[in-house]
Amino acid sequence: MIRLFTSEDEGACKDIAKRCLEETVDLDYKARQYVINKFTKDGYWLLKANTFPLYVYENSSQIVATGGLNINEFKKMYVHPDWQGKGIGTEIINHLKNIAKKNNQQELFLYSWKSSVGFYKRAGFIFVREFIHEEQEIKMPLVEMRSLLLKNNLVV
Ligand SMILES: CC(C)(COP(=O)(O)OP(=O)(O)OC[C@H]1O[C@@H](n2cnc3c(N)ncnc32)[C@H](O)[C@@H]1OP(=O)(O)O)[C@@H](O)C(=O)NCCC(=O)NCCS
Repeated sequence: MIRLFTSEDEGACKDIAKRCLEETVDLDYKARQYVINKFTKDGYWLLKANTFPLYVYENSSQIVATGGLNINEFKKMYVHPDWQGKGIGTEIINHLKNIAKKNNQQELFLYSWKSSVGFYKRAGFIFVREFIHEEQEIKMPLVEMRSLLLKNNLVV
């Protein structure tokens, strides 16, 4: 079930992101530690949820994935490593796409870790560019990807 984040989900979201960053995101040691530290700060996920609609994927009362939509930007897509490869990321993407369509968005975009390019390509996104994002002197390689939204097979 996909539902909106509530403050009780904070711990689960931190754990999912931390496990993803430790196990399935390709970053150097300093960058990895920096991002883990940022994503596990007190109230980080609640702050995000107060900025844009943030969703969680709940399976038998366990939160296993997150994903948000800031107008037409995908945010915070994380599927717990134990639950990856089961179609959950795709379900979240479709959920967010449907919301964006209802809101008459015509194009979606995202910034992501390089390691997820293949996943987003399969979901219909086009690779735009790779760039280095710098925060507090920490350099992180990111990619930008975009996707046109189709309504009745027509680009609207
Ligand atoms: C990227 C991520 C969100 C994908 O979620 P998921 O639930 O594992 O993806 P799905 O099971 O829906 O996979 C859909 C398809 O994409 C493929 N796929 C998944 N991750 C992939 C990857 N990193 N590279 C290439 N293909 C990938 C799957 O094999 C599957 O292919 P199929 O349709 O032929 O079976 C998840 O692996 C993740 O959280 N990664 C770490 C965090 C991250 O990079 N988040 C993204 C940006 S912040």
